Amino acid sequence: MTLERLEVDFDGPVARIWLNRPDVRNAFDGLMVTELRKTLFDLRTADAVRVIVLGGRGAAFSAGADLAWMKAMAGFSREENLREAQALADLFFTVYNSPKPVVARVHGAALGGGAGLVAVCDIAVAADTTVFAFSEAKLGIVPAVISPYVIAKIGVSAARELFLTAARFDAGRAKEIGLVHAVVPEARLDDAIDSYLRDILSCAPSALAVGKRLIREVQGRRPDEVIGLTTATIAEQRTSADGQEGMQAFLEKRKPRWVS
Ligand code: COA
Repeated sequence: MTLERLEVDFDGPVARIWLNRPDVRNAFDGLMVTELRKTLFDLRTADAVRVIVLGGRGAAFSAGADLAWMKAMAGFSREENLREAQALADLFFTVYNSPKPVVARVHGAALGGGAGLVAVCDIAVAADTTVFAFSEAKLGIVPAVISPYVIAKIGVSAARELFLTAARFDAGRAKEIGLVHAVVPEARLDDAIDSYLRDILSCAPSALAVGKRLIREVQGRRPDEVIGLTTATIAEQRTSADGQEGMQAFLEKRKPRWVS
């Protein structure tokens, strides 16, 4: 697929996806949603790729949904309007469900759905100058499609405050509420990301995929409800090729050679 709204670079096991609509601060319209979802979906099965970095070209990570596109929905049928919303939901679910870690490289601004994209990524590193907001209510709309991912990340209390004021907040606050994991000067953003990438790439790909699934399945459930799931998961992973190789390599004081 020719990409009009994205750039994708491959660097060994790292795929970097750049939102590439800098004129509108990487606001996403239907085409960007489609391209991003398809790219992420295809990367699931790209064996050479082990981690994905999502960033934005130009002055901002993303100004969220394209407001001209959202406004134009009034001229669509209810079915078309719902179909567009479903496409956006599918994009978020594809990131959430990706077996490979997705790292957000955040700078400039992450507003509305842009902050939602940060929330759904596994790890987020932000420049200290980034401004964030769940600004939807100020625009007369709501952070609906992103809400499950945002609430899971920042909790109900911060979501109440930030959804119901639509107020801007800085990178320090974003870290405090768990929306991002590290805040660095913009000049150090790529170094900080590289440090995360080194750690991720030292891990077994299968262990990361199973770890991501475990987080999805355990989140919000009682410990006694998930005993069957957690015991089956470790029983399977420790006898898997990667589990055996990782432990063998430790015992032999050498680097593991992952099988998956
Ligand atoms: N949808 C559509 N267009 C957008 C947009 C969005 N979400 N965000 C920015 N743009 C457009 C602006 O209309 C402007 O277009 P123009 O050049 O034709 O006037 C262009 O992008 C640049 O925006 P501008 O506000 O001039 O740039 P800035 O660097 O001063 O500020 C932002 C950038 C992102 C802080 C600011 O544009 C903003 O607050 N955008 C709204 C973001 C928002 O609340 N999104 C929630 C959507 S759910």
